[in-house]
Formats: sequence, C-alpha cells, structure tokens
Amino acid sequence: MWAPYDASTYQAVLDELDSDDVALEIGAGDLRLARKMALVCRKVYAIERQPAILSLDPRPLPGNLIAVQGDARDLPFPAGITAGVLLMRHCNHFHLYIEKLKAAGCRRLITNARWRMGVETIQLEAPRRAYGAIPIGWYACWCGATGFVDGDIGLLNPEAEATIHEVAGCPRCQDVFKRGVI
Ligand SMILES: C[S@@+](CC[C@H](N)C(=O)[O-])C[C@H]1O[C@@H](n2cnc3c(N)ncnc32)[C@H](O)[C@@H]1O
Repeated sequence: MWAPYDASTYQAVLDELDSDDVALEIGAGDLRLARKMALVCRKVYAIERQPAILSLDPRPLPGNLIAVQGDARDLPFPAGITAGVLLMRHCNHFHLYIEKLKAAGCRRLITNARWRMGVETIQLEAPRRAYGAIPIGWYACWCGATGFVDGDIGLLNPEAEATIHEVAGCPRCQDVFKRGVI
C-alpha cells in the first residue's frame, strides 16, 4: 500500500531544502517528491521498500538522484546527509530513523510523522527536556509521540500554548522501551 501526498505538502518540504543539501528521503514511493528535491538539492538519496512502486515512473533519473530499493530500517544511511525527509503519517520506526540519521551526520529531519499533519523540521541535535520537567503544554518526543502535558492551568498563556517542548522519556517512550520494540 502507498499513497502520495498533495502538492502543498511537497512544497512545504521543498521550502525547507536548499542548494547545499544532500537529502535522504525515507519511503520515497514512485520518486515524485525525490525528483522535485533533486531540482533543489546538491544530491538526493531515495529509499523505497516496494520495487513495484519504485518502478512506476519509467523516466530516467536526474544525475544527482540515487534511488535505492530496500528497507530503510536495515539499509545503511550514506554519510554526509544534511537533511532527512520522512513523509509517513503512520511510521512505527521514527526513533530508529532519527538515530540512523544522526549517526550519518544529519542534523535535521523534515517530516509529517509525529503530528500526522503539516510538515515540521526537527533539529536533531537540539537539546531535549525530560518529559517530567514540563509543567504544562505541548510536547513532541524523540520516540515519535506527541501530546499535551496537563498541569497548573494558571501557567498557560498564549506563548506557552504556542510552544512545543522537545522531550525525551514521555509515557509512550518509556512503555515501548520497556517492551523493547522501539
Ligand atoms: C505515504 S508513502 C509516501 C511516498 C512518498 N514519500 C511521497 O510522498 O510521494 C510511504 C512510502 O514509504 C514506503 N516505506 C514504508 N516503510 C518503508 C521502509 N521501512 N523502507 C523503505 N520504504 C518504506 C512505502 O512503501 C510507501 O511507498
């Protein structure tokens, strides 16, 4: 099964890339976004698991686009990636991809996998607060979970409501680590 996203989602990704980038798209479908990324970036790697989908578009690839058929969970990520792209609203391996990107030297991930709507750019090296240190407000965790920490309503103001805390150790994170399936 696969489903492409819409033009505004792709544009939101392209707006976050520039000509110096070496980008890696995880789960590239028929390469429709990867081809657009190749018009912007210095180099693009695109990994897609399903060979039948990868070969849907018979046009030759641009010289700076390298498509790889395989499972992104198992394939080594090339060194020197500056931006990861993950458009996958039902991703179960978010944390694994973050770790693999960081190991490859990548510092940002452009994705819709955490909030499952819109596109965000995550700074992979940004410091993370412990989940328990958030008094109240929105959080996004490195395991891929998002949510709202309940707390003293008196601490909520427009600025606090608009802030998303990057955290580690959220309840889901602790649960899946305990079960060893992250
Ligand atoms: C929602 S589609 C998005 C395709 C493409 N990014 C786009 O926007 O046009 C997700 C794609 O990720 C692929 N995929 C899912 N898990 C994968 C994995 N572990 N390794 C490689 N590809 C994967 C699926 O086969 C599917 O084609």
